[in-house]
Amino acid sequence: MSALLDRHGPVVLPALLLCDFGHLAREVERLEKAGAAALHLDVMDGRFVPQLTYGQVVVEAVRRAARVPIEVHLMVEEPERMLAEYVALGADVISVHIEALADPREALGTIAGLGARAHLALSPDTPLEMVEPWLGLCDGVLVMSVEPGFGGQRFNPVALDKLARLAELRAERGGTFRLAVDGGISNDTIGPAAAAGAELIVAGSAVVRSDDYARAIAELEAIARRAA
Ligand code: DX5
Ligand code: ZN
Repeated sequence: MSALLDRHGPVVLPALLLCDFGHLAREVERLEKAGAAALHLDVMDGRFVPQLTYGQVVVEAVRRAARVPIEVHLMVEEPERMLAEYVALGADVISVHIEALADPREALGTIAGLGARAHLALSPDTPLEMVEPWLGLCDGVLVMSVEPGFGGQRFNPVALDKLARLAELRAERGGTFRLAVDGGISNDTIGPAAAAGAELIVAGSAVVRSDDYARAIAELEAIARRAA
């Protein structure tokens, strides 16, 4: 299933955070019909970030409704405690924040051992040096272009330098990790993000706050492909 994420060229992963949770299965279906390559689920615990969103129950409901891969973005303290549960529920990708990990080697190894893809996420204020030692152990790096915690924020260009540097490091080291970006993606910011190297591009409000999901995704992906 994760092979959808290996599609050549940049792809948009809609984030459900701002969708209509009163009609969750319908939203999943609309996003899939609109061409979503995968779905991005923001799990927040009210501690690592101020907001509390949802957890395993909702991820399970999305998994039942969805046919495309699911990325679970854990914005929680002690994510190690729940890796096995989310993989068992059917998460294809687990993104864990470097700031929250006591032992990145162990956490990444656990996710991989369970058969999911392990992505390392880093917040805008977190220097790239924090993730550098672990690049050989992860399947992707999720560069945050907003402070984690809320949808609909403005894109922080600090992410562009990080993406470009990661692309350089990957080329130098012959790495295989994917480059992902999350936060503030719009028709104006997706071009620069793709040009800097982003391949898996999370878009929340740009998709689910539009009237026509298919058009929103198609426009974003077209701009990204031209810029990449
Ligand atoms: C922010 C979340 C994002 C958010 C993106 O903490 O990680 O995934 O849903 O939403 P937009 O695209 O509106 O910034
Ligand atoms: Zn996210």
